[in-house]
Amino acid sequence: MMFINKHIVVGVCGGIAAYKAAGLVSQLRQRGADVHCIMTEHAAKLVTPITFGELSGNDVTVDMFANINKWDVEHISLAQLADVFVIAPATADIIGKIANGIADDMLSTTIMATTAKVIFVPSMNTNMYENPIVQENIKKLRKLGYIFVEPESGHLACNASGKGRFPSLEKIIFRIERILSGRQLLKGKRVVISAGGTKENIDPVRYIGNRSSGRMGYAIARAAAIEAADVVLVSCTEALPAPEDVRMIYVRDARELDKAMKSLYEESDIVIMAAAVSDYRPIAAANQKIKKEENDDLMIHLSLNPDILFDLGQKKTHQFLVGFAAETNDVIAHGRNKVERKNLDMLIANNVAMPGAGFNVTTNIAAILYKDGTLQQYPKMAKEELGKIIIEKIAEKCN
Ligand code: PMT
Repeated sequence: MMFINKHIVVGVCGGIAAYKAAGLVSQLRQRGADVHCIMTEHAAKLVTPITFGELSGNDVTVDMFANINKWDVEHISLAQLADVFVIAPATADIIGKIANGIADDMLSTTIMATTAKVIFVPSMNTNMYENPIVQENIKKLRKLGYIFVEPESGHLACNASGKGRFPSLEKIIFRIERILSGRQLLKGKRVVISAGGTKENIDPVRYIGNRSSGRMGYAIARAAAIEAADVVLVSCTEALPAPEDVRMIYVRDARELDKAMKSLYEESDIVIMAAAVSDYRPIAAANQKIKKEENDDLMIHLSLNPDILFDLGQKKTHQFLVGFAAETNDVIAHGRNKVERKNLDMLIANNVAMPGAGFNVTTNIAAILYKDGTLQQYPKMAKEELGKIIIEKIAEKCN
């Protein structure tokens, strides 16, 4: 939703990563943004403007004086149109030009003329990136309010390894979203979120687990980071990429999760338990792999794990405490019961038996219940969107 009806100008420079900007343009358009591309002449030698035209659905500008068929001054109209301006890849050349007030082509003149937030995505050879002149220019631009997405380290097109790689699209899209949101709804708030399913060891190779992927909790963490919260994500999975600007703590079983959540509790303003916690664990995990040759049948004795959310509810002082309920029947009634019993401020109830909801899918169907008994029900939507709604609703209650 954040991208719908938003105008994003993407400036593409003549670095070998220019082809990766095509993926960025495509992703932005898929999210509903109106994307306009300006390419430098060097960029147009690496990737044809037709590619960016096709992917953006708009004319691509390279030459300031070619095809003058509209009599508004194009670099000014694009500069004014932009809600966000992204330079990807940003070469040493464009960084140097803007830092020194040089506007001598379509891209540099438009950047100079815009009042929109400008994000540079530097991508170049390590030595070029680390050159003190480039670093000085970056420092100067940062001071002036320009935003930089750090390049990644790894294999470079020049067959060397080092810092200078074009970052993941998610990193760039996250920065853009933060600007588009512009609200900073949770600035100054410490938000602790748990995600994924706990794994209770039976022996060194087997465990009791559940079908939680962690997607729901990760989506909430991302949404909280977009709203400028100080986010800690306690994750029971390592399978998902860490969200941007989020501190990660990895745990395996319910007792590790319990310890992590309780150690963070005092300093937290908002705590959200999206993790699927195993209610039971084997009384003692075997030290060696259990051999079938030695056991015709096998009994595993289980003991109860701590109910982390319940304990947090008992200890609550200033925290806004949010739980989840994974139910298969009487979802609202069970949810209401949990709000009461676990002393929660909010609960997200999902019917995990419905197609497109619950475990290990990219969508969810949820109802938000509040401690005053009110209720909001939502249709099926992407977990990313639901995460944003949950964060908005929490912010409404906390601010
Ligand atoms: O990870 P995904 O694949 O995206 O799936 C998302 C989800 C279905 C896991 C998520 O939306 C969800 O419902 N999470 C909670 C799952 C769960 O454990 O529900 P529950 O009804 O058993 O527990 C109720 C609440 O108590 C939960 O907030 C849970 O984190 C907490 N709990 C439960 C047991 C326990 N021993 N300690 C707890 O803190």
